[in-house]
Amino acid sequence: MTTILGIETSCDDTGIGVVQDGCRILVNDVSSQIDVHAAFGGVVPEIASRMHTEVITQMVDAALDKIDDPVDAIAFTNGPGLMGSLLVGANFAKAYAFAKGIPTIPVHHIEGHIFSAFLQGKEPKFPCLVLVVSGGHTQLIQCIKAHDYTLLGSTRDDAVGESFDKVARLLDLSYPGGPSIQKAAESGEAQAVNFPRAFAKTDNLEFSYSGLKTAVLYERQRNPDRPVADIAASFQWAAVDSLIIKTRQAIAQTHTPRLVVAGGVAANQLLRDRLTKELDIPVILPEMAVCTDNGAMIAAAGYSLLIHGHSGDLTTTPTPSVSL
Ligand code: KG4
Ligand code: ZN
Repeated sequence: MTTILGIETSCDDTGIGVVQDGCRILVNDVSSQIDVHAAFGGVVPEIASRMHTEVITQMVDAALDKIDDPVDAIAFTNGPGLMGSLLVGANFAKAYAFAKGIPTIPVHHIEGHIFSAFLQGKEPKFPCLVLVVSGGHTQLIQCIKAHDYTLLGSTRDDAVGESFDKVARLLDLSYPGGPSIQKAAESGEAQAVNFPRAFAKTDNLEFSYSGLKTAVLYERQRNPDRPVADIAASFQWAAVDSLIIKTRQAIAQTHTPRLVVAGGVAANQLLRDRLTKELDIPVILPEMAVCTDNGAMIAAAGYSLLIHGHSGDLTTTPTPSVSL
């Protein structure tokens, strides 16, 4: 039995997880900074790193109190993310590993999200196509075997989660935008406004979300009396539509037998329902509790990296922008 402590501090959530054998979650605690950043309408990097520093030691202590077995290795997010935030987790992990004489495992944040789909008893299955939908990334990745990734396409501008956040601001909805748009959309009409789907008629596997955001802005200015619920529902439908269109094209082009969905927007109910209903291959979705940033996903990816012979050392330094 291998017990991994996972530390996620890439942005504004301090995530501490303990996972056994890559799939059994023993602890998954997240300290959210949302209330503090909400006042600014987005994450303030300097505040984020300070807040990680304030909570990380007590959160790890609390996690270790909940488990009986010793920790065999410590995995941490090594990038991409905010440099100050990444450094808090990385330095904590390296100090802890040095003190305990155990290995560190640097983990790419997106790889963590991918392995979130394989938590809670689900074995990793390859090959798979991965649809990454987070606040910073929108990508289609082909994964032939564990840790072997080929980028098929990504967004040319905003990420899909970023577009939920920006559109929420335009609609005076709260941060983060994903959950608040989903909530507002519940009472809205998804066909009220026909918002654009970028590259729908081309067979490249790229995304673009800045035009959609601008279309929402213009719609707001043209029709200020249109209910926010209708705009939220129409925006959400168009944003999800683009993901479905490009994922379908990627499946047709690669013939990959299954789809894994990774990242915070995987929590979106419309996306989950439509992917499951509209694609004709199995869709592996992370459970709701592990869609957004958390330490368990970093521990799960760390376990797989460890058994495939990857680990770090005390000289490993986070990289704020690094591709998978
Ligand atoms: O993966 P994540 O926790 O952080 C990054 O790595 O970026 O994703 C955060 C993003 C935010 O943009 C948030 O608005 C979005 O995920 N999100 C959602 C939902 N829950 C979170 N977007 C749409 N619907 C949701 N229910
Ligand atoms: Zn993330």
